[in-house]
Amino acid sequence: MCGIVGYTGKKACEDILVSSLKKLEYRGYDSAGIAVIEDGIIRTVKAAGRIKDGLEAKLADTEPFKAVTGIGHTRWATHGEPSDINSHPIGNSRVSIVHNGIIENYRKLKSFLTEKGYVFESETDTETVAKLLDFYYNGDPVDAISKAVTDIEGAYALGIVFRDHPDMIYAVRKDSPLIVGIGEGEMFIASDMTALLEYTKKYYLLETGEIASLSKEGVTFCDIHGNSITKEVHTATWDFSEAQKGGYEHFMLKEIHEQPDAVRKTISPRIKDGLPCFEECGLTDEMLRSYHHIYFIACGSAMHAGVVGKYIVEGLARTPVIVDIASEFRYRNPLLASDDLVVIISQSGETADTKAALELANKVGADTLAIVNVVGSSIAREAKMVMYTYAGPEISVASTKAYMVQNAFMYLLAFRVALARGRISEEECRKLVASLEEIPGKIERILSDLDPYRKAASKLMSANSLLYIGRGLDYALSMEGSLKLKEISYIHSESYAAGELKHGTISLIEKNMPVIAVTTQRELLAKTISNMREVKTRGAYVIDVCPEDVSIDAESADFVINIPSADDIIMPLVAVVPLQLIAYYTAVLRGNDVDKPRNLAKSVTVE
Ligand code: G6P
Repeated sequence: MCGIVGYTGKKACEDILVSSLKKLEYRGYDSAGIAVIEDGIIRTVKAAGRIKDGLEAKLADTEPFKAVTGIGHTRWATHGEPSDINSHPIGNSRVSIVHNGIIENYRKLKSFLTEKGYVFESETDTETVAKLLDFYYNGDPVDAISKAVTDIEGAYALGIVFRDHPDMIYAVRKDSPLIVGIGEGEMFIASDMTALLEYTKKYYLLETGEIASLSKEGVTFCDIHGNSITKEVHTATWDFSEAQKGGYEHFMLKEIHEQPDAVRKTISPRIKDGLPCFEECGLTDEMLRSYHHIYFIACGSAMHAGVVGKYIVEGLARTPVIVDIASEFRYRNPLLASDDLVVIISQSGETADTKAALELANKVGADTLAIVNVVGSSIAREAKMVMYTYAGPEISVASTKAYMVQNAFMYLLAFRVALARGRISEEECRKLVASLEEIPGKIERILSDLDPYRKAASKLMSANSLLYIGRGLDYALSMEGSLKLKEISYIHSESYAAGELKHGTISLIEKNMPVIAVTTQRELLAKTISNMREVKTRGAYVIDVCPEDVSIDAESADFVINIPSADDIIMPLVAVVPLQLIAYYTAVLRGNDVDKPRNLAKSVTVE
C-alpha cells in the first residue's frame, strides 16, 4: 500500500526518485509524485495514473530539476479518489510529506487545524499530518516531528522535507515499513529494499517511534524525546538483477519460471539426512508433539497455501489444523490457547491484518512461527520463530513463486509433524522428502511447452464467468487457480468443491461456460469425473488438468492438459503451474496490465 522513496546526496535526484518509485509501483499505482528542494523552494510534480502515463509525462514537460534532495510516492488510494490533488507529496511551501498508512484520527486533527486557520485542499488523511508538522515547526524539524507523531493515531511511514533544511530528509514510522539506505555520499529512504538495490545493499531498518535525519554524510536516529539511538546495519541478500524483468514480457511470467529454483532454494537448507529439519528456528520434535492445534493464518494466496497445509498436515500427522483469514481471525475472538502453534504465512511480512493476527497470537502466549519471504520484515521480527522462503523479490502483484514456496514449506512442516508424532516412519518420511525434491524438475518440464496454456486461455478469454472444481487437495489448489484468474483477467470465477456443486451452483452452468477441473487425486478421480460429466452434459466447456498417466475421455472433458505425475499428496505443487499459466495467458489475451491489475496492490499495509 503506497511506496515511499527519498534521496539526499550529490546527484540530481529526479531520475533516482522516479526510477526507485517504479520499483515500488507494485505497492500501489493510482498516482505518483515527487517533491524536491531547489533554489530554496519545494517544487512538487504529481499526477494521477501510472508513473509512466502520469508523473513521467508531466516531468517530461518540465525543465529537469537540479535538486539533490527530494521525496517521492506511488499511491494506492484510501482516502480520496486517485487524482492529482490527492496525490503525494502533500504539503505547503515550508514542509512536504509522503505517507504510507492510514491516519485514523484525521477528522479530529482536521477540525483542530481548521480552527487554527488551516485550509485543506485534498480529501486525504495525509494532509492533516503535513499541516500538523507545519503547525509545530519552529525551526527544529525533529521537534516538530516528535510533537506531530504524539498527536497522530494510526499507521504511518513518513518521508518529510523542510524548505529551511534543503539538504536533509526526515523519516518516521509506526507499523508501516520504512528503511534507510546507505550510499557513498548519499542516503536514501524507501518502503522496501527492492527500490534501492540499484544503488546500495546496505540499510537500516527504521523501528516504530524512531526518527531518522538523513544528510549526504549519513544518518542519525533518535526517539521522540530526542535520545539518540545506535542501529545495526543490514545487508540485502537480493540482487538488483533479481528485481528486473530479465527479458520476459512480464514479471509474472518471469516469476513463474523462477519457481523450480525457488523451491530448491527453500527446501534444500531444511533437509538434513533426507529428513526435514527446523533446527534453524528452534522448532523441535518435542514442541511439535506438544501442540493441540496448528493454525495457519494469512491473507490472499498465502492463506491458500495454508489450506493446502491443512489437508496435508491433518492427512499425514492427524493433528487438527485451523486455517483462518487474518482479517477474520483477529476479530472473532478465536479459541486460541498457549499450547497451540500459530503459523503466520506472508510473502511481504508486512500485511496489516496478518501482522495484527500475529500480535494477537503472541499476546495469547501461543508459539508463533512466521513463514516469510522478505528478510527483516515486521512479521519476521515479531514472530517467536521465523523461517524464510527463498523466492527472491516477487514484483508481480499476483503471487506465483511466493505461493509455490509457501506450499513447499507446508510439505516440509507436515512431514516433520507426522514424523515427530509417530504417524510416519523415517523411511516413509524420506520417501516423501525425495518426492518433494523431484518437484523442480517436474515444473521445468511443464515450462518447456507453454502451448496448452495459450490454447486453454483462448477458450477462456471471452467468458464472463467460470468455475474451478476439484476434490480434496485439488479443491484446495483450485482456490488459488481461481484467485489468480480473477485478479489478473477480471473474469469472474469461483472455486467449488466438486461434490458441492449440485447443491445450488450448478444452476449457473449454461452453454459454453468454461469449467476448469483439477483431477490429480487418484482416489477421488471417479467422483470428480462424475461431476465433470454433470456439468458437461449441461453445456459446460470442461478443461481438465490431470497427471499424464491418467486418461480422461471425451465424455468428461473437452480439453485435457496433461502434467507430470507425482505422488498424489505432492501434486498441488505441480498442478498449480498450469493454473498460473492459464490465468497469465488469459490476462495477456485480454490485453490487461498483467503485473499491475486494476484496484490491487501487492503489499496491503492497511486493514
Ligand atoms: C495481496 C497480494 C496477494 C497476497 C496477499 C497477502 O493481496 O496481492 O498476492 O497473497 O496480499 O500478502 P502477503 O505479503 O502477506 O503474503
